[in-house]
Amino acid sequence: QESERESMFIVNEWTAKYYHDILHNDADGRAVGMQYFRSRGFRDDIIEKFRLGFALPDRRAMPREAIAKGYKAQFLLKTGLCYSKNNDNNPGKETDPESLVDRFAGRAIFPWIGMSGKVVAFGGRKLDKETKGVQQKYVNSPDSDIYHKDHELYGIYQAKKQISKEDRVFMVEGYTDVISMHQCGIENVVANSGTALSIHQIHMLHRLTKNIVLLYDGDAAGIKAAMRGTDMLLSEGMNIKVLALPDGDDPDSFAKKHTPEEFRKYVEENQTDFIQFKTDVLMKDATDPVRRSDVISSIIKSVSVIPDPIIRAAYLQDCATRLRMDEKTLLTKMNRFISDDI
Ligand code: CTP
Ligand code: MN
Ligand code: MN
Ligand code: MN
Ligand code: MN
Repeated sequence: QESERESMFIVNEWTAKYYHDILHNDADGRAVGMQYFRSRGFRDDIIEKFRLGFALPDRRAMPREAIAKGYKAQFLLKTGLCYSKNNDNNPGKETDPESLVDRFAGRAIFPWIGMSGKVVAFGGRKLDKETKGVQQKYVNSPDSDIYHKDHELYGIYQAKKQISKEDRVFMVEGYTDVISMHQCGIENVVANSGTALSIHQIHMLHRLTKNIVLLYDGDAAGIKAAMRGTDMLLSEGMNIKVLALPDGDDPDSFAKKHTPEEFRKYVEENQTDFIQFKTDVLMKDATDPVRRSDVISSIIKSVSVIPDPIIRAAYLQDCATRLRMDEKTLLTKMNRFISDDI
């Protein structure tokens, strides 16, 4: 089993190099792949640091080369790098090397590098922005023996040193957000690929820092995403700040409209404490008493999961002021949540 996992890491490592070399040494790779990253404003040093690459549109190119170099079909399949086009109509032929095709063909490649520096998976982006729906924007490696999506965070390897050093981590949605922030000089940043944070991911971060800043789009969907999974972060004792970006921007597009200095200044000056953010956002459209009481419950529920009693008490006090409610009433409510939990 262990040697199978090792073989999977080895074929991933080879493939990451292969996709990356294409950017430098293949005519199409330079003209199409490298050109794509340049059109997005990615610098050379960042392309190297994130080991970005390009998968040639010929679906057979990568597997043919891999097999010729001695890598086994079995591991190209197990890692999800390839799939077999014989799967349905040719049972028993799945591991026939001739049937393997590249899952990421024609896409810009973002390797996922795990905490220890090994390539655990890949994300592939289609190159054209325009054609919607025809092709998925991103294709990602499926879960495998070496990759559990909910145990990994994109960018953790490149970020971990700076997360510890600064004792803070920025959480964003996407690959390109991580990359653009590095390019602006902010290196303590990871992405969860637009899904809710899992307990495994929180534990991974918690070992490096207790301070997390959520960076989400300024639109309704972004705010909703910022709210998701936060009670789990709070209950693990993390301090949460939220940074809302202007409507329609993600960190990458925002960075492209500003200088690195402006970006960093914006980040420092616009962080809001999460509980305060949640209170302000939810209270804004809670006009009638019933809605208000639902909102207050939800906020007090968030406060109730904070493990440190002093921090909890401080938030309760602050909430009483913000919500213009009697602190004792809120305390009774909170204690009910706490005892319900036991
Ligand atoms: N994502 C995904 N599969 C999709 C869409 C999104 O895995 N079909 C993940 C990717 O990790 C992506 C992140 O969710 O980076 C955020 O999605 P989105 O905001 O749509 O993409 P961007 O990262 O902004 O990509 P781009 O700037 O290239 O459009
Ligand atoms: Mn290179
Ligand atoms: Mn799990
Ligand atoms: Mn985005
Ligand atoms: Mn984007």
